[in-house]
Amino acid sequence: MSIAVGLIGAGVMGKEHGRILSMYTPNAHLAGVCDFDPEKARSIAGKANVFTDPLDLIASQDIDAVLIASPDSTHAELVQACIAAEKPVLCEKPLAMTAEQARLIVEAECKKGRSFVQVGYMRRFDPGYVELKRLLDADAIGKPEILHNLHRNPVAPDWMTGDMLITNAFVHEIDVMRWLMGTELDSVRITVAEKGDPMLIVTRLTNGAMSSTELYMNCKFGYQVHAELVGDEGTIALPDFASPIVNKSGCRTANVPLNWVPRFVEAYQAQTRSWVHSITSGVPNHGATAWDGYITTLIAEQLAEQCNSDQTILLGLPSRPSLYR
Ligand SMILES: NC(=O)c1ccc[n+]([C@@H]2O[C@H](COP(=O)([O-])OP(=O)(O)OC[C@H]3O[C@@H](n4cnc5c(N)ncnc54)[C@H](O)[C@@H]3O)[C@@H](O)[C@H]2O)c1
Repeated sequence: MSIAVGLIGAGVMGKEHGRILSMYTPNAHLAGVCDFDPEKARSIAGKANVFTDPLDLIASQDIDAVLIASPDSTHAELVQACIAAEKPVLCEKPLAMTAEQARLIVEAECKKGRSFVQVGYMRRFDPGYVELKRLLDADAIGKPEILHNLHRNPVAPDWMTGDMLITNAFVHEIDVMRWLMGTELDSVRITVAEKGDPMLIVTRLTNGAMSSTELYMNCKFGYQVHAELVGDEGTIALPDFASPIVNKSGCRTANVPLNWVPRFVEAYQAQTRSWVHSITSGVPNHGATAWDGYITTLIAEQLAEQCNSDQTILLGLPSRPSLYR
């Protein structure tokens, strides 16, 4: 059985997802590509059908499941259309632009009594993060006390304005804290540089642990994501980005990736394979659910509203519906 996947959005992420679906995903094939710009869709479609209206792709009888890689502002409406059509959907992060849109997605799934949505918080599938979690859960460093995160990016894209440092970028760390530490966030304090970037973010978790995050979206030199866990018996850190080391003219050099695609290529592949496997087998995976997507967007919204206050922000979170327990 091969799942016919329809891809919406043929930009930076769409290209990567199209390549993964065509080359690295057993039991699935790229059956449709949609972009407002048909040339862009055609450039990655191969033998797949080309669409310019995403709702036509979702409704098509030739499409079994949908992967959304169009801009953040389109996610909520398209995910709702997938739930209404009862088609599994892997939606790039964030799930929605507002917490209310995300809450309505959770409500729509609860009404159906079934989960259709996985949100593309792909660090959950990165081999380094997976190993970090396995060791933590196996008690390798005792009780976790601090999670240090670094999230650096050379130049923020033009569309990343205002609150999007939090609602589009820091959402990755919110998801990592919740998934890796298996707990919720309790309170957050953000210190922002005068020019709005970088930010230092200190979080208290409900299990008593703490987290620090450096978020720097215009660090110029390259793309770097790192995490180190400190427990009461030791530490575990992610490995460095694998790059050949060159010795020349008295210098030793290694490459730093320029964006997220080479850094997380294995994570994107594992995420898609795992999503397809969960569709064909019915076995849930550790991907982020609509509930995770909602909570992450809700936290990000509360932080964005108060991020310039330089005060501790106490988070208020709703209780989890039985569908997601
Ligand atoms: N998981 C990650 O690591 C990661 C990294 C980068 C971006 N993202 C997310 O992926 C999504 C896409 O980001 P990108 O960098 O590829 O953006 P992009 O601007 O490169 O591509 C978006 C594409 O979607 C098309 N588009 C816009 N509205 C559309 C619509 N309604 N229907 C069909 N096509 C439409 C545009 O023409 C464009 O080709 C965003 O939500 C972003 O937050 C995730």
